Amino acid sequence: MVEITRSFEIEVDIIDDDHRRLVDSINEIIQALNNEQFELCAQLVPDFVDLSKQHFRREESLLAKYDYPQTDNHIKHHASLDDKMETMLALATKVADSPPAAEALRKELIFFMMDDIINEDMDFKSFMVNATAGKA
Ligand SMILES: [Fe+2]
Ligand SMILES: [Fe+2]
Repeated sequence: MVEITRSFEIEVDIIDDDHRRLVDSINEIIQALNNEQFELCAQLVPDFVDLSKQHFRREESLLAKYDYPQTDNHIKHHASLDDKMETMLALATKVADSPPAAEALRKELIFFMMDDIINEDMDFKSFMVNATAGKA
């Protein structure tokens, strides 16, 4: 199971709520893999990818709204994740026939969440906490 502990919170509610929803979605997928519910897994991964893309757009608007100076870099970072999302979608179609694909998908999801989503967002945490101060 993936869990967002306090040190992984950005302390901006809109963003933390999204991150929690993404973690819930990943945990559902991992649960499906554990239970060998491969069809369910194949359905859940595209939903997770959609949710991630919606989250990226929402976060980008928020950064732009508060004039975060590195907004463009963060938008580029999100864009650089398109290939990883394509890989996850491809793996999701193979999990039923391939235990290595299931294992690869599990690892991709966890690294994607912890490194690419949460860790990279730490760059704007203090800026956004100050900028929003109870407003966002
Ligand atoms: Fe984020
Ligand atoms: Fe982000």
